[in-house]
Amino acid sequence: MATDSATRDAALPFHLRGNFAPIAQEKTAFDLSVRGALPEALHGLYVRNGPNPKSGESQHWFLGDGMLHGVELRGGRAAWYRNRWVRTRSFVDDAEPIGPDGTRDLTAGRANTHVVAHAGRILALVETSFPVEVTRDLDTLGCFDFDGRLTTGMTAHPKLCPRTGELHFFAYSFAPPFLTYHCADASGKLVRSDVIDVPGPTMIHDFAITDRHVVFMDLPVVFDLEMAMAGTMPYRWSDQYGARIGVMPRGGSSAEVRWIEIAPCYVFHPLNAYEDERGTIVFDVVRYPELWRKGFSGPPGVLHRWRLDLMAGRAHEEPLDDRAIEFPRFDERRLGSAHRYGYAVHTKFGNEFGIGTSLIKYDVQSGASTTHDFGADRMPSEPVFVPASASAREDEGWVLSYVYDATRDGSDLAILDAVDFARDPVATIALPQRVPFGFHGSWIPDAR
Ligand SMILES: [Fe+2]
Repeated sequence: MATDSATRDAALPFHLRGNFAPIAQEKTAFDLSVRGALPEALHGLYVRNGPNPKSGESQHWFLGDGMLHGVELRGGRAAWYRNRWVRTRSFVDDAEPIGPDGTRDLTAGRANTHVVAHAGRILALVETSFPVEVTRDLDTLGCFDFDGRLTTGMTAHPKLCPRTGELHFFAYSFAPPFLTYHCADASGKLVRSDVIDVPGPTMIHDFAITDRHVVFMDLPVVFDLEMAMAGTMPYRWSDQYGARIGVMPRGGSSAEVRWIEIAPCYVFHPLNAYEDERGTIVFDVVRYPELWRKGFSGPPGVLHRWRLDLMAGRAHEEPLDDRAIEFPRFDERRLGSAHRYGYAVHTKFGNEFGIGTSLIKYDVQSGASTTHDFGADRMPSEPVFVPASASAREDEGWVLSYVYDATRDGSDLAILDAVDFARDPVATIALPQRVPFGFHGSWIPDAR
């Protein structure tokens, strides 16, 4: 029987096998067992989103129903673990964000990509749709459209400005307008929505802000109507579209965007962007030489640095490493200003996407890096940095990551000392079930 099961498993696409496969249950557990000593300063909720199709299968890794996995840390103990599907209209009554005739329903969507906190709300996000608000206990409250002001979807990668408290974000669409920029003020009120002119409908997963600019990426993964009609992920690589980065002053408009041509590539995720003392925009990204020419096969993403010279209208690019990575994170108190450190998952990228056994910490100032290898059959998820205190220096804090252990088919929440990154975890919290590989999450302190 084991052979039958292994054969069946091998025939499945990667996103339905092993620890990419969805789980069937929602669980709640209190006072989890902790190996090591949980830092008392960690007082809040770590929550991460990811696709977990309720039917047990989906056409594409990106298309499963969102499921949140959260652990509440309190006073040196792990108070609870919960996993909950986000009860979107797609989950509850199979509503589709795009109808058979191409009409869009922004209240439908899988809400499977990220979960962020802003202005007292916790929002589960997917880039096709309105945010879905959830409680700290991960119960779904419903769509949040900024009191009716939002008329597009919302990227899963909004940027919280640490100086102003503003939430900058955008939406892209297969139908005009292809790109719309939005900004909500610190109270959560949507105060700007501006169409940004781009040549065509590309997949724009993420962007960046600096202290003075908003930075868009218009890259050659384009909408394909035939693929959409076939009901699969409707974006593919284009050899014709070209690639450009758009830099808009904060508070500016589409007419003020400086577009700078770059070599074709794809970027899901920047690490951070900032302006150096000469006004050059330094933009660190995980860059793929191409994407989705044929499924998930292809060359991996590695850490690259773009330097954008706005006066000359030119970009200079250089690799900062040659290892395959994804899910880059950093100390987000530095968002938009110069960063020194970043953390990412070491990936395996060949015929299909895979997760390695280590996290990599980069020091982009010295060029050094440190690896934390969890050991054979132990695979981490996105590393989320939590500062030790509001006044702690960059890198002084912890890195949180769900780690899957294939030998026992279970998961832990590992907490690493960000400064002493290679050392054994400070604490390891055993979870009552495995946490499938997912996408992005946040640390939400009690005060937010
Ligand atoms: Fe993402």
